[in-house]
This record gives sequence, C-alpha cells and structure tokens, in this order.
Amino acid sequence: MLVLSGLLAGLMGWATLGCQSQSAATDEIVIGHFGSITGSEATFGISTDRGIQLAIEEINAAGGIQGKKIRLITYDDKGDAREAGSAVTRLVTRDRVTAVLGEVASGLSLAAAPICQEYGVPMISPSSTNPKVTKVGDMIFRVCFIDPFQGSVCAKFAREHEGIKASKAAILCDQAAPYSVGLQEEFEKAFIASGGTIVSKQAYQAGDQDFSAQLTSIRSSEPDVIFIPGYYTDVGNIALQAKKLGITVPMLGGDGWDSVKLGQIAGDALNGSYYSNHYSPEDPNPRVQDFIKLYQGKHQEIPDGLAALGYDAAKILFQAMKTAKSLGGADIAAELAKTKDFAGVTGVISIDGDRNAIKPAVILEMKDGTPKFVTTIAPSGGDTPAAKP
Ligand code: PHE
Repeated sequence: MLVLSGLLAGLMGWATLGCQSQSAATDEIVIGHFGSITGSEATFGISTDRGIQLAIEEINAAGGIQGKKIRLITYDDKGDAREAGSAVTRLVTRDRVTAVLGEVASGLSLAAAPICQEYGVPMISPSSTNPKVTKVGDMIFRVCFIDPFQGSVCAKFAREHEGIKASKAAILCDQAAPYSVGLQEEFEKAFIASGGTIVSKQAYQAGDQDFSAQLTSIRSSEPDVIFIPGYYTDVGNIALQAKKLGITVPMLGGDGWDSVKLGQIAGDALNGSYYSNHYSPEDPNPRVQDFIKLYQGKHQEIPDGLAALGYDAAKILFQAMKTAKSLGGADIAAELAKTKDFAGVTGVISIDGDRNAIKPAVILEMKDGTPKFVTTIAPSGGDTPAAKP
C-alpha cells in the first residue's frame, strides 16, 4: 500500500522520500513543499501544491526572480508527523532549498518548524492556524489567521446567527490533534464569555470509525449546536452517524472541514451545518474570480481554501525574495516580516510582529454537499450588524 501510494505520487509528479534529489543549478531557485499528498487529509496537500504550482508558473513566465527560475520539490508526508520531520530535514539538508512552504495541519507544521528554525531556512505555513506554530521562532511565518480568532468567530456565529442562536453547545474534539484541541479551547472560552454554556465535551481520535458513544451522550445533553473542530474525513463520518442517531441540531466546525471530500462523504447529512474558512469561491472580488479561472484552466474543480492559501503563500514568498538583500534565509525572513497589505486571493495580508496574518474569516453553510457563502467576520468583530461583545 505504501509502495503503491509512493508510486502513484511519483507518477503524478510528486517526489517521495525515496527519490534521489537533484542539486540546484545556479540558474534556478529551489523551494520545498511538504504536505499530505496521500492519506485521510490528502486533499489538503494536493490542493496546496496546485496553488503553489500556479504561482510558480506565473512568476517563471514573467522571467523568474533575478533572472532565475523557481523550481519546486514536493514531498508527501502522508499526514504523519514523523514523515513531516524527515521530509523537511531532507529539503533543508540535502536539497538545500531556499525556503519551505507547508504544512496545512498544525501538528505537522509544529513537527517541522524547529528544523527550519535550526537551519535558518524560512518556512511559511499557508494554513496552520494553531498559535504555537509561529512561536517556534523568527524563521516561521504564516499567511492565515490564527485559532484564537477562528474560535471566537465560531462562538460568535453560534450565539448570534438567526438559524442557531445557541445558548448550549456540545463539543466533539480530536484529542490528539493540536489544531483540534487548540480550536476547541478557544471556542469554549469565547462561547462561555458571551453567555453560553458547554453542556457536553467528547473526544475522538483521527481515523475512528465508531462515534456512537460520544454522539449518544451529546444527544442526551440536548445542545443547540455541536462544535466539531476536526478534519474533513472524520467530520464526514461523524455527520453520517449523527444523522442515523436522529441528531438534527446544526453542527459547526473550523477550516479543517474544507475539502471537496467533505460533501462527498457526508452528502445531505451536513445540511444546515456551518464552518469557518479563509475564502469563499462565491466572493465577487476579481482577484478571487481570476484565480478560480486560472485554477479551473488546469483542474476540473473549484479551488478550495487550501489552493488559494498555497497560491498566496508562494506569492508572498516571491515578493520577499525579489526585494531581499540576498537569498539567504535571514534576508528573506526580514523581508517576509515586512509584508504589508498584500492583495491576496484569501484577503489583504499583512504580517504582524508575531509573524501571523490578520484577516477576516468567512462562514460557509453546507447544502447538499456544497459549501455556500453565509457571512464574513472581520477581526474587530464589528462586521455583522448583530455584533455585541
Ligand atoms: N487550520 C488547520 C490546522 O491548523 C488546517 C486547515 C486550514 C485545514 C485550512 C483546512 C483548511 O490544522
């Protein structure tokens, strides 16, 4: 199975850890991407890689950076923290990449960030939202918002949205994923601070197949909403089982739901449920619509948030490389830290003093397997008319 997935990844143009690296020619700049190209979060890595590739094609078509073309090396970490560590070690020590893009899942970014920090290679996570990721050190950046914000967005939406107006929430959390645990804490804090009560807290482990004990217990606690800060494969399975158990209250989640696979797994079992995310394909902004056209020219689907974030992360990296004093890690990092008002597909991106981006979140509603735009919530929280802290 492992051999097969490696072969498939290789055939599709992704390197696996077993391949021999090529050393960089002087007329090119090599950057690395590590992501889950296979496994239960495979769409995270595949979409991100596609977004990065599009940005590379654009910059290379425009002549590259200082006359050098960008070349990408991508390794599949299979969604596993140990694999993520070895992928990044290989990128920085053998392939000698100029910078690293990745990961999506916070737990995997946390596994790899210390390696980039130690070797002085800038790393940009397009989409890891756990606050700890960029705290690893001054080489580690991200282009997405962080979970204290995302958790408060979800709590606010659960409390105030017409269809929910929850006073009682249940939580079902992936207990081994730093993303899930962190987002759960932030949601709980904000939900309680705004006058709500948590009536049940349940845990699962990624890959579990049977959620009936947790869901039965949640059902008897009679919540108005169930918060599930998990990744899409588990969430899809949870939704199917919740429907079987006759649970009809809305479910709510974070960006970890973002995958075309979620709707394929859950179908109408998630109708009336919501999640927060980084972008909506329904956004009429020409930057968003142009990106969708570009993406659809290559791939027969609407890009998800990961593709958009991968694209933005790569473009921010290239902008920093263009203005950096040299292509040394410290010089690129110094430029990345200065990123201000970058007009990205996922919003206007400025990097703050903690190397995080401050941006609005969108809320999407699942309808027969497809996410539909509901609202945008800005960091100040003042975006929705009903907002009262
Ligand atoms: N924010 C998630 C994490 O930190 C990853 C994610 C981002 C998943 C965006 C989907 C979309 O683990």
